[in-house]
Amino acid sequence: MGILPIRIAGDPSLREKAKRVRTIDASVQKLIDDMIDTMRAAPGVGLAAPQVGRSLRAVVIETPDDGLLTLINPEVVKASGERRLMEGCLSVPGYQAEVTRHRQVTVKALDRDGKEIRLKAVDNLLAQALEHEIDHINGILYIDYLQSADELIPVRPSVDDEEETEAEVSLA
Ligand code: NI
Repeated sequence: MGILPIRIAGDPSLREKAKRVRTIDASVQKLIDDMIDTMRAAPGVGLAAPQVGRSLRAVVIETPDDGLLTLINPEVVKASGERRLMEGCLSVPGYQAEVTRHRQVTVKALDRDGKEIRLKAVDNLLAQALEHEIDHINGILYIDYLQSADELIPVRPSVDDEEETEAEVSLA
């Protein structure tokens, strides 16, 4: 298990435009494994490399319906429709807020074997996670979409199980 510390909003690594992965070598494979462990331990629906302090365009996502996905150099190639969604982020602990996301999102990327993949997500958690994580590798946090900090809703941890409460809202 390689659980890495997650950078919190205010950390400059979250604000860089991350670099393209040129070669999916052993160090990238190790980073992906550690990101998966870190995402699952948090727990969260996704994690992007800048959240663990690495300026690379690498993302992991895991949803109940779509399973585990590793995306290298992902790009949104098409996005349409709008919906309002409650969102949280492992790098903004303790809060959630409503944001506008696209209903349909098409992404192209490489998988961890370097094979080209194309994903189309419609009206589901994957669509939201794809946009959220690709924002991360561009240095964008969901809180950037808010008009004011007043829109942030504190997540009240339950008395007996704080982690479970966090899990429901910490998208990525
Ligand atoms: Ni996030």
